[in-house]
Amino acid sequence: MENFSIAIDGPASAGKSTIAKKVASHLGFIYLDTGAMYRSLTYAALKAELVLEDEAALVSLLNTIEITFSYEGDQQKVFVNGEDVTDRIREKDVTQNVSLVSSHEKVRAEMVARQQHIAETGEIVMDGRDIGTVVLPAADLKVFLIASAEERALRRYKESIDKGMSVSLEQLTKELIERDHYDSNRTASPLKKAEDAVELDSTHLTIEQVVEEVLRLAKERL
Ligand code: C5P
Repeated sequence: MENFSIAIDGPASAGKSTIAKKVASHLGFIYLDTGAMYRSLTYAALKAELVLEDEAALVSLLNTIEITFSYEGDQQKVFVNGEDVTDRIREKDVTQNVSLVSSHEKVRAEMVARQQHIAETGEIVMDGRDIGTVVLPAADLKVFLIASAEERALRRYKESIDKGMSVSLEQLTKELIERDHYDSNRTASPLKKAEDAVELDSTHLTIEQVVEEVLRLAKERL
């Protein structure tokens, strides 16, 4: 039998990675944060001072980098060629440029190949924008996780304040809406709900309630 797989897609800051991580840990599955892969490439491209419109240059760079993860309990770490970039890839310059980097078709083709390769190694929960539509079209469970833009921005705002970062809620809301718009309107595998995905609105739900619902849906299919 094929490995059981769960795809979690949705707009920015809908809680995908928090939910996916917890579901994977409950089920003893691998967890893959595909957004972190696009963020890692964006970080490397900014460091190399590439022109981010240059698809060929991005692909050449991607071919020289290995993106790896380590886990300790709920803590995920991300490495680019061994360098710990966990916090760096969440910074503003990466967040503001990642949609452009990930809009290139050839960049996506390479990322998708890497993600599918990882999925072959075991049962998996993967989160992103195109998992149910492109990366794992035959996933056993597809969840499209949404929440209102206000709620998503507020969650991101609280997270940033907790980390001691100074941010404006208004600016965060604006950036979030812009990124969703860009991700949903690009030509190469835009963010969209797979036809057979279950839509879950987490606006008024706690993390635990969403995790419980995803686990219930998964167990129905296991
Ligand atoms: O999920 P996260 O916010 O970290 O993703 C960062 C960006 O990476 C998204 O805004 C999107 O542009 C891109 N992405 C993507 N496809 C995925 C995951 C992320 O295009 N599967």
